[in-house]
Amino acid sequence: MIKQVIIFGGSGFLGKYIVKHLADLGYAIKIFNRNQQKAQKLKLCGHPGQIVVVGDYILDELVISKHIKGCDIVINLIGILNESKTQKFYTVHVDIAEKIARVAKANNISLMIHFSAMEAEGNCSSKYTQSKLLGEEAVTSAFPEAIIIRPNLVFGEEDNFFNKFAKLASILPFLPLINNGKMKLQPVYVDDLAKFVCYVIKLKIHDQKLYHIGGPKVYSIKNLLKFIITITNRKCLLINIPLPIAKFIAFICEFKVISALLKPITGNIEPLITRDQIKFLCNSNSLEQSHDLEKAKIRATPIESIVPKYLKIYKKV
Ligand SMILES: NC(=O)c1ccc[n+]([C@@H]2O[C@H](COP(=O)([O-])OP(=O)(O)OC[C@H]3O[C@@H](n4cnc5c(N)ncnc54)[C@H](OP(=O)(O)O)[C@@H]3O)[C@@H](O)[C@H]2O)c1
Repeated sequence: MIKQVIIFGGSGFLGKYIVKHLADLGYAIKIFNRNQQKAQKLKLCGHPGQIVVVGDYILDELVISKHIKGCDIVINLIGILNESKTQKFYTVHVDIAEKIARVAKANNISLMIHFSAMEAEGNCSSKYTQSKLLGEEAVTSAFPEAIIIRPNLVFGEEDNFFNKFAKLASILPFLPLINNGKMKLQPVYVDDLAKFVCYVIKLKIHDQKLYHIGGPKVYSIKNLLKFIITITNRKCLLINIPLPIAKFIAFICEFKVISALLKPITGNIEPLITRDQIKFLCNSNSLEQSHDLEKAKIRATPIESIVPKYLKIYKKV
């Protein structure tokens, strides 16, 4: 029998790739999104009727229950990078995640996959990281068998990191470094991550509940920025910004009017940087390289073979 998967937050960056891979494998897919219009084009990833888009602006247990009924697998991709007046980390990463897990359990869902984030170990004071950790706890207490995926930085054509810094490097004479760019990242290709989700879904026994998903190599942020500057052929300097100044700049960037003014650079109305992100970037934990992709026999794609293709638009000729 064809299995039905419901994906909460399926219209986002990761959602698009996960939907495509699951559709190729023949799953029936329900994309839950508060703005149904945003997800309509994803229906083209499957054959007619294979992918349906549902949703509501209210995400209470009744609404979740209505859409979860009859599904076999739940994937929760709902998340935010920045807080706003209406979107708080705790509500999005803990309350919503817990509601989905509770309803999934009550409806005898056989598998729940919840997306958390890297380094959610509670040793970082950023509210983002802490809410992700609390979200994991809330999900596992409501649905103890839930699988938690902690992706490292995810890259791909629509990513928020390489695109943003390439754009900045094409405009500014320098790129700012926070904490000397020492923080370590292990970027993972979005398509590999989507394949990994399919691998987890196909597993018969789930004896591992927590996965750290990273790419083939660990880089410091400084080296990632150097890579962006090199492949876009820019002459940008890398300048370390003292913490108090960085915090002040972030404070200014958090004003809506500033985000709106910077939209031509950032491409969206999200703040360029926030004080919470600065706390995250100051976390210079040495990253333990993850090998979970290898276990799934997925050959991790290096940034060098993908990123230059989509950063071509920023390249100085
Ligand atoms: N991208 C990365 O590098 C990365 C790294 C580590 C972890 N993750 C995690 O992986 C998950 C997916 O990431 P992504 O990059 O695909 O994020 P994304 O592109 O920002 O998509 C997030 C999704 O969450 C939905 N959403 C946000 N707030 C919501 C709310 N209050 N109610 C209902 N839906 C809401 C969004 O819907 P709207 O379109 O309506 O806003 C969107 O569909 C997130 O949990 C993220 O934290 C991502």
